[in-house]
Order: sequence, then structure tokens, then C-alpha cells
Amino acid sequence: MLEEIKRTAAFIKAHTENFTPEVGIVLGTGLGGFADGIDTAWTLEYKDIPGFPVSTVEGHKGRLIFGEVEGRKVVAMQGRFHYYEGYTMQQVTFPIRVMQQLGIRYLFVSNASGGINTSFRVGDLMVITDHINLMPNPLIGRNLDELGPRFPDMHNCYDKELISAATRIAEEENIKLQYGVYVGGTGPTFETQAEYRYFKAIGGDAAGMSTVPEVIVARHMSIPVFGVSVITNCGLSDEVGDHEDVQRQGRKAGAKMELLFKRMIKNLK
Ligand code: HPA
Repeated sequence: MLEEIKRTAAFIKAHTENFTPEVGIVLGTGLGGFADGIDTAWTLEYKDIPGFPVSTVEGHKGRLIFGEVEGRKVVAMQGRFHYYEGYTMQQVTFPIRVMQQLGIRYLFVSNASGGINTSFRVGDLMVITDHINLMPNPLIGRNLDELGPRFPDMHNCYDKELISAATRIAEEENIKLQYGVYVGGTGPTFETQAEYRYFKAIGGDAAGMSTVPEVIVARHMSIPVFGVSVITNCGLSDEVGDHEDVQRQGRKAGAKMELLFKRMIKNLK
């Protein structure tokens, strides 16, 4: 596995004149618009990168974008891999391993999710303060000792300093932020009403089908993580979740998220 990661990283370096990104960014459903704001130097389609799985979900473009945001070097995943697509957890998290080999020092993740906290509204941005993992753990199997410990600590999983920076920037930019716990399930079904109530009862604020595997793998490698969920539906209301709605709401709230990510990247140490 480590060899495959290194081989893919070497391929990417060879095709980007050794581009060394400081920040890795994962763009979630409907949030790919952030890529338009990247001063792009190189784009690589997943299908052209050896070792990369290929994204199958509608609304997910599958490519890596290398360039600058506010003068900082970034690599963005436009489209991610989901467990429900049939990929293994190792495949889902492979790009994060590769980005670490390319040199990222921070990981920014975004997703669309269903609000469970009843004070949340559609279109809200929720800063992820913690998560509950209801998927198989991506670290099951032989540990890659060279990359991180067998039993990684999950305190401060979502970096407190980055959360404070987000709060400060959101105040300056007049962006309303919610904060909460992301519950990661496998999907692809949206939750039943009883499941949304269960997620709420165990301490969740938003429900989704991604992010947690990538964050676990990033933390395994001690990379600080910042995560934002766009609330695209409210699970405990009577309305029915639907993928088009999720994409539409994602795009609408995307502008706020883009501004927040941009300013945060500018302010990184
Ligand atoms: N549940 C799970 N994943 C989601 C949801 C939801 O309600 N909305 C967007 N992604």
C-alpha cells in the first residue's frame, strides 16, 4: 500500500513540475465551485492518475487541481470517493495519503449534510467540531508505521486553532456559522426518521456519508484538519431528502464556504 501511495505521488510530482502543496482541500457535493477561484497551474483527471479510483457519483467531477489560493499553494480534490460507491476504505482515503506525500500541512474538508440539530436551517454552514464514525474504520488492517501510530489519538481531531480562526473570519465577513458534531454513516440511503432521531440522541448535529474516513486518515498522519458541512436538508422535518436538492443547496451555500476557506488559507501560519 505504501509503495502504491509513493508511486502515485511520484507520478503526480513528475506531471506538476514537483508542485508542493501546503493545503489539501476536499470539495464536497455541490461545492466544486471553489475550484474556479484557484489560480490553476495543473489539473489531473483521476482517470489519468495511476492508483486513483474513479468517481462515479453525479455532481462529482473527478480531478485534482493544483494551484494557488491567496498566494498559497493548494491541491484540491474536485470530487471525492465514497464508501457507498463500492470502494474500499483504503481506496476512499488513498488521495489523502497521496496528498500527504506531496507535502500538505493542512487538510480542509467540505461536504453536504442533513441537519439534525433543530436550530439549523437549510443553507447554514456548520463548522465540524467533532465526529461520530458509523462506517468501518479506514485504519483497520496492518498499520503503516511510517505514516502514523497503530492507535491514533482523536482528541482535537478538528483543529481548535483553525476553528477559532474560522469564528474570527466569519465575524469579519458577516457569515453565520453553526458548530456541531458530524455523524458519518455509509449511505447511500438517507436516514429514516428514527435514524435521524438516533443520530441526534447520540450527540450528532448533522448526518452525512463522507468526510470521516478522510479525516481519520489525515489525523493518523498528524495533519491538522478543518471541516465544514453545508446543511442541505433538515432530517427531522417532514421534507424528503433528494440528491438534486442536496446539489442545489450545496451550490447556493457554496459561495459562503468558498469565502471562508479562502480567507482561512490566506491566514494560515
Ligand atoms: N443524510 C446523509 N447524508 C446527507 C444528507 C442526509 O440527510 N444530506 C446530505 N447528505
